[in-house]
Amino acid sequence: MGTFVRGRVCKPSLATVCKHALVVIGAFAWVAFAIACSSSASRSPVGVSDHRGGGVNPHLGSDAGVVDGTAALPRDYRTRFKKMNNARFVSSGHAAGRWEVDVWANDAASTALASRARDVPEGAALVQEHFERQSEGGSVKGPIMVMEKREKGFAPSHGDWSFTVVGSAGQLVKQGIIEQCAGCHDDAPIDGLFPIME
Ligand code: HEC
Repeated sequence: MGTFVRGRVCKPSLATVCKHALVVIGAFAWVAFAIACSSSASRSPVGVSDHRGGGVNPHLGSDAGVVDGTAALPRDYRTRFKKMNNARFVSSGHAAGRWEVDVWANDAASTALASRARDVPEGAALVQEHFERQSEGGSVKGPIMVMEKREKGFAPSHGDWSFTVVGSAGQLVKQGIIEQCAGCHDDAPIDGLFPIME
């Protein structure tokens, strides 16, 4: 039943692609800031930045300072999850060619990706690590982005996906229903996921 709709969203119009490109450029401006920031002493909050004082997540408490993002990442994903790509590849979705990425998925997510599932089950989780393309051997870390399929009703208009961004210095940047992320992933062909081809 959903085939027609999915067929349509698999082939977004040029205008849609452009819109999404603009959205993602905007979305990543603050990640760029985070990276610029981590190599200097400056920690002043600018928009959504390294600094949680920017009001990124009001549920995390009120003391000033940077929140360690480790707890927001799926535990031991590098050993427990399946690596979806062989060689690192250039992300086409995130920041227009700036990053090379590796993608890990747990069983539920990797099965869904492989079978191009219409409905990805609750509990599916994916982690995409980003590395600066320009750096020698891609050794300079960028952000880590996570998608987790939550219980029905968590985000009804966004396929119940929760998004997380952990910055280049390991700090929690944002977590939850992030509209900038959902705005693009809503149109992805595998119930919010884009195929990983490499
Ligand atoms: C303009 C579209 C767009 C936006 C906005 C976007 N993504 Fe993606 N995302 C993609 C594409 C395309 C892929 C496939 C791999 C690639 O090219 O990076 C992807 C892959 C992923 C993956 C691996 C799972 C998959 O779908 O294959 C995760 C995790 C992810 N994105 C998280 C995020 C988060 C978190 C945000 C918000 C900060 C975000 N994305 C914003 C387009 C987007």
